[in-house]
Amino acid sequence: MSRLRESPSADELLAWYDRHARALPWRVGPAERAEGRRPDPYRVWLSEVMLQQTTVAAVRGYFHRFTERWPTVEALAAAEDGAVMGEWAGLGYYARARNLLKCARVVASDHGGRFPDSADALRALPGIGPYTAAAIAAIAFDRSETVVDGNVERVMARLHDIRTPLPAAKPELTEAAARLTPDARPGCYAQAVMDLGATICTPRNPACGICPWRAPCAARAEGTAAGLPRKTPKKPKPVRHGIAYLARRVDGAWLLERRPDSGLLGGMLGWPGTDWAEGAPDPAPPIRAEWRDAGAEARHTFTHFHLRLAIRTALVPMDRAPERGTFLDPEVFRPSELPTVMRKAFDIARKL
Ligand code: ADE
Repeated sequence: MSRLRESPSADELLAWYDRHARALPWRVGPAERAEGRRPDPYRVWLSEVMLQQTTVAAVRGYFHRFTERWPTVEALAAAEDGAVMGEWAGLGYYARARNLLKCARVVASDHGGRFPDSADALRALPGIGPYTAAAIAAIAFDRSETVVDGNVERVMARLHDIRTPLPAAKPELTEAAARLTPDARPGCYAQAVMDLGATICTPRNPACGICPWRAPCAARAEGTAAGLPRKTPKKPKPVRHGIAYLARRVDGAWLLERRPDSGLLGGMLGWPGTDWAEGAPDPAPPIRAEWRDAGAEARHTFTHFHLRLAIRTALVPMDRAPERGTFLDPEVFRPSELPTVMRKAFDIARKL
């Protein structure tokens, strides 16, 4: 039976995209592209870095604030590290934000403020891997590059009913995506597959009835779409424990410290605390005080472990010097600059 199915073509998807492309703040839609307009590579790059492991809904506000504050790559390159890390707070994966800034500075200093226009040259920049290089080359410069993210993997697995589980299936899925990538309108095509994966070929309950690729879709014919792509189960994540110390001075200032550039939450503002390990943490208060346990933990999941952070609070007099960290006045301290786990700790402490 399956031999009778037509092969899918990029044209079917492009025709759908012409009518249903999502309006996104970094996107130049198909009608304007047809008139020769191209998106600003800076905005494409910024959006792609932000969208890794995050949804369009979560990114919109960040993208808006970044581009208001730093409208060009030169403006971003000239920003202070702490300001960029503060705007990134809550998006996670802070190494990406540090690389973002490094990349902006290289583009400003070595490339005259213009992003290179090929995937190979883009890959040489800090923080730009194969996915981001292909996405920018296709979307901003209309290069016929194969863009493979989670959406594309899902669409390809279903279209061809590929039952090999991820991650072993990656080469096969990439090969399938490459075969379909057209020479004409590759920028629209790359965005069209992503939109299809985000709006129709969704992880659960795919809307196969309105899919532009319903006729050639092998998984639809076999009834396997909802279960694809298969995934090899991951090892459970270990649990680490730590203590965060939230000291408030009698004038309302909070004791904070900037974390070292390397390592988890590198370069971010946070509460002084212990290391995070699988055993019970050794207390390490940053200032002499009568510490009280808040009776609640801040819980957060990182890529490789779950963290349970005990919260200790103290009120300290004006003349006591900390051994670690700096007191920030309430007018200077912006809780929005805290990474999510530190923000959770703050929300627990301030309710006390
Ligand atoms: N997800 C990641 N990049 C995207 C893009 N350019 N368009 C839509 N969704 C995306």
